[in-house]
Amino acid sequence: MSSDTYRKLIATKFSSDFSSAIEIIKDKIPEPTSKQILIRNKFAGVNAGFDTLLCKGKIPYFTETPPIDLGVEAIGEVVAIGDQVKEFAVGDAVVTTQRGGGYREYQVIDEKLGFPVPIATPEVLTLMPTGVSALVALEQVGAMTSQEVVMVTAAGGGTGHIAVQLAKLSGNQVIGTCGSEAKHRLLKDLGCDRVVNYRVDNVAQVLKQEYPQGLNLVFECIGKQMFDICVDNLAVRGRLVVVGFISEYGKNPELVSQPRIYNQLFWKAASVRGFLMPLYKEYIPEARDRLLEMFSTGKIRVAIDPSEFQGLESIPAAVNYLLSGQNCGKVVVKF
Ligand SMILES: NC(=O)c1ccc[n+]([C@@H]2O[C@H](COP(=O)([O-])OP(=O)(O)OC[C@H]3O[C@@H](n4cnc5c(N)ncnc54)[C@H](OP(=O)(O)O)[C@@H]3O)[C@@H](O)[C@H]2O)c1
Repeated sequence: MSSDTYRKLIATKFSSDFSSAIEIIKDKIPEPTSKQILIRNKFAGVNAGFDTLLCKGKIPYFTETPPIDLGVEAIGEVVAIGDQVKEFAVGDAVVTTQRGGGYREYQVIDEKLGFPVPIATPEVLTLMPTGVSALVALEQVGAMTSQEVVMVTAAGGGTGHIAVQLAKLSGNQVIGTCGSEAKHRLLKDLGCDRVVNYRVDNVAQVLKQEYPQGLNLVFECIGKQMFDICVDNLAVRGRLVVVGFISEYGKNPELVSQPRIYNQLFWKAASVRGFLMPLYKEYIPEARDRLLEMFSTGKIRVAIDPSEFQGLESIPAAVNYLLSGQNCGKVVVKF
């Protein structure tokens, strides 16, 4: 690669298979205009669920057609600035959460779209979109209080392990589900009160036996049977937040035939609430500042999956790794 070009990962077509949809292309490193900054990305977060759905053309609010730039959040270093840039200098660490700004070696953005951070690490990157999503979903959608029973599914993953810690910090009793011993250990280490490995234990049975009063708040990431079990076990006035349904992202939605959901919700005055981060943007700045403060004062920890994914070529493997459930904590790609 010559020094005035960089590489990025794009979707060249829609496909049900992520690897078949993508290509790595070269482009000229752009010059920042007066209010722009040029960033060399150091790490990007892997959002395999979103990536897969986007490449399938199955995100209802997204109407672009290929070629589509991929990746979202990235952390890196400012390497050039426009003459009217006020908030950044060359050498500063910066986080971005622009759709299309993640899976690329360089990006140029308006300075207003970058957020200055003390250091460009995967941990700080994870706090920004992933941690913020967990916090906003729990507080704004789930109406999290204290002294309740909160269940987090995919609790040992990137989003889940932050949600577990936030629910604990608010003074709740927290149940976390996961599918591996490594995640079980991580969750115990993070203070999760009851870890249920769904590959070993029957989640429905555990909930019926140990939590007969039900679940007050559920942070639900998985969908399908896990969603059904959670709805079934909602407490009176329980709230279930649909954070995602990753078990269905790679497949067509499962068709179910059963009595409508109000039959389950109405008699308990329970509710199921959808969460989508882009529709809660106004909460981002406060959530971001609070998470950074909690992290710098040691109130929360960030777990980064130990597998090393290096460079754009490793992204399909990172996506498959996350979708196969092998990850423990947040999956990031290093550039
Ligand atoms: N609504 C929003 O704005 C928003 C924002 C961020 C994330 N999310 C959602 O949050 C969830 C977690 O995302 P993440 O990026 O942090 O991923 P992650 O939790 O780091 O990884 C996904 C985890 O899901 C679990 N899983 C269980 N059944 C699965 C299945 N059939 N297929 C694939 N994974 C399965 C696996 O853990 P176990 O096997 O241990 O359960 C896997 O490690 C996703 O549903 C994602 O879409 C939503």
